[in-house]
Amino acid sequence: MLRLKDKVCIITGSASGMGEAEAFAFAKQGAKLIIADQNLELAETVANQIRSLGNEAFAFQVDVTNIIQLEALIDFTIGKFDRIDVLLNNAGIFDKYTNSLETTEYLWDKIFDINVKAIFRLSNLVLPHMIQQKSGAIINVGSIAGLVAKMGGASYTASKHAVLGYTKHLAAEYGQLGIKINAICPGTIKTPMTAKMLETRPTDKIPLDRFGDTSEVADLAVFLASDESKFMSGACIAVDGGFTAV
Ligand code: NAI
Repeated sequence: MLRLKDKVCIITGSASGMGEAEAFAFAKQGAKLIIADQNLELAETVANQIRSLGNEAFAFQVDVTNIIQLEALIDFTIGKFDRIDVLLNNAGIFDKYTNSLETTEYLWDKIFDINVKAIFRLSNLVLPHMIQQKSGAIINVGSIAGLVAKMGGASYTASKHAVLGYTKHLAAEYGQLGIKINAICPGTIKTPMTAKMLETRPTDKIPLDRFGDTSEVADLAVFLASDESKFMSGACIAVDGGFTAV
C-alpha cells in the first residue's frame, strides 16, 4: 500500500540534497509533488525525473524570502490540486561555523530570513487551507544544531533552535484543528551543503561511526507526512546516528 497516496505535498529546497531525496521518497509513496526551489533548472530536472516514474510533479521557482513568490506558489498548488496535505519546510542555508563576534547583522538576518522566517511565512499561507480541510501536516527541517551548540555558528545554531520553538508553538495552537506539526533534526548528512566539509571530518563522535545519507532523513519525512504518525505533533526528532545521545 502506498503511504502517501494522492497527498499533495510542497517541499521547499527540493532541487538538491535532502529535499531532492525527500521528493523522490514521497513520489515513491504516491504523493503529488510541488518541487519548490530558487534553482528552477535543477527543480525542473527533479520534477521531470519524478514524472518519468509515473507520478505527478511540478517544478516551481520560488525564493522563500519573497512573500509575493510564496503566495504565487500556494496559488499554483491550489490551482493544480485544490488542496495541500503536506508542507515540508526544508530549504535552508549554513553559516559556515561563523562565531558570534564574526557574525555580521547581514549574515544573521540572511540566515534567519531563510531558515526561520520563511517557515513562518509559508506556514501562515498554508494553514488556512489545512484548517479548512481539517487535516494537514507541516514538517520543519531543524538540525542537531537546534538541539546542541557547536554544530554550526552563532546564527545557524540560533536559527535552528528557533525552528524547533516555532514548531512546538504551531503544534500547540493548531492541533485541535486537525493539523500535526513536527520537526526533523538531521545530524551530519552528505549533501552539496556539507560535501566539502566532510572530506576531512572524522566520524568517531557519532556512535554509528558514519555520516548520514539523505535517504535516511527522507524515510523519517515520509513517516511524518503519512497517517502512520497521526498521534505525533510537536516532536523534534534527531536522525543523527546517535550523536546527540552522548
Ligand atoms: P543543500 O544546500 O544541498 O540544498 C538546499 C536547497 O535549498 C537547494 O536546492 C537550494 O537551492 C535551496 N534554497 C536555498 N535557499 C533558498 C531560498 N532562499 N529559496 C528557495 N530555495 C532555497 O542543503 P541540504 O544539506 O540538503 O539541507 C537541507 C536542509 O537540511 C537545510 O534546512 C539544512 O539547514 C538542514 N540540515 C542539513 C544538514 C546536513 O548535514 N546537510 C544537517 C542538519 C540540517
